[in-house]
Amino acid sequence: MRFFEGYRCGVCGREVPAGSVAGECPLCAGPLLCVYDTCAVRKSLVGRSHAPGPAGAGVWRYGHLLPDFADKVTLGEGSTPLVAARRLGDAVGARELYIKDESSNPTGSFKARGMAVAVSRLLELGVRKAFIPSAGNAGLALAAYGAAAGIECQLLIPPETPHGVAEECRLYGADVVIVPGILPDAAKALDACVGSDRTGVVSTFREPCRVEGKKTIAFELEEEIEPDWILLPTGGGTGIVAFWKAYRELEAVGILERSMPRLAVVQAAGCAPLVKAFHEGKEKAEPWADPVTIASGLRVPSSRADTLVLRALRESRGAAVAVTDGEIAEAVKEIARTVGVFPSPEGAATWAGLRRLVREETVSPSSRIVLVNTAGGARYRFLLDPSGF
Ligand SMILES: Cc1ncc(COP(=O)(O)O)c(C=O)c1O
Ligand SMILES: [Zn+2]
Repeated sequence: MRFFEGYRCGVCGREVPAGSVAGECPLCAGPLLCVYDTCAVRKSLVGRSHAPGPAGAGVWRYGHLLPDFADKVTLGEGSTPLVAARRLGDAVGARELYIKDESSNPTGSFKARGMAVAVSRLLELGVRKAFIPSAGNAGLALAAYGAAAGIECQLLIPPETPHGVAEECRLYGADVVIVPGILPDAAKALDACVGSDRTGVVSTFREPCRVEGKKTIAFELEEEIEPDWILLPTGGGTGIVAFWKAYRELEAVGILERSMPRLAVVQAAGCAPLVKAFHEGKEKAEPWADPVTIASGLRVPSSRADTLVLRALRESRGAAVAVTDGEIAEAVKEIARTVGVFPSPEGAATWAGLRRLVREETVSPSSRIVLVNTAGGARYRFLLDPSGF
């Protein structure tokens, strides 16, 4: 049965048909979100478990809340480990602390989940070339999934990306262009490469299905432990919007019977536009003037979905916190030593964020808490350099 109905702009509500190649709203350029017939999904789930696909089947297990593309590209993304972090939790008195370790995904980050669905959409639409500006992990994921699907990929990346990104992407057959500056400069350079209709662009919130893939982290967590708090490192905001959308859908199909978990965004103190806007009670975020942080995935001065991120925080009674690079570096070491997971700086930022949120009594240590480690640490060479930090 077909549950996927098409797309709706997350800002102005404009509807776009399912077969459209548009990646953003034709009226306001806002992010398009996938829409499902949740009544039909609800009926189909009566007497069945949470997810129709077999356990351990990764992202595509949740096909009832994903677009039903004919070719589903997969490299084994999803079904990642949920690791109990008891000794880490002891430091803040949290007895139920977990790390959702996304580093075991293909290409080593949570970006794999989104790209599996986004590249499947391109196949469905017959688009043969994909473009992305990337700080590293999204580009790697696109290059790998593009190789799996036989889709040509063009990547625009700033010079400062995690170790080996450009080389690995070229191995996957992608065309990699290094653009001086930071991520927004690479995004500007993209305009010169693509046609005026922007077909094939899979940048953050210029493509609707990356959010759909990332939603499945929340689906897995809900089956695994029904968390009270989820902390996510946030740059462009795909993850946080995906979690919020996932829980709204679980409500609509009758699976979520309690209120949705409280969502917290963690940003770097040197680039925290969403945290600032949240604390000022604003509905939009001002671009950050001079973004600086060792966590390259968080060096995103403005989000195209700022209104949605802020809404997700308000509706989930969530929180927003900024942490310094020093706290992030310390958090990497603490997690590695006490959990046995080597996190990316972005992932480790969530632990630094939790320390602050517990200290200021926003998060109760008696809650069931999940930190999302969005990628592994080994690509970030400075983390392995004893003189580095
Ligand atoms: C490792 C890692 N974590 C987190 C993020 C932030 O992603 P988003 O805010 O779009 O979910 C990125 C983005 O590049 C990343 O590479
Ligand atoms: Zn719109």
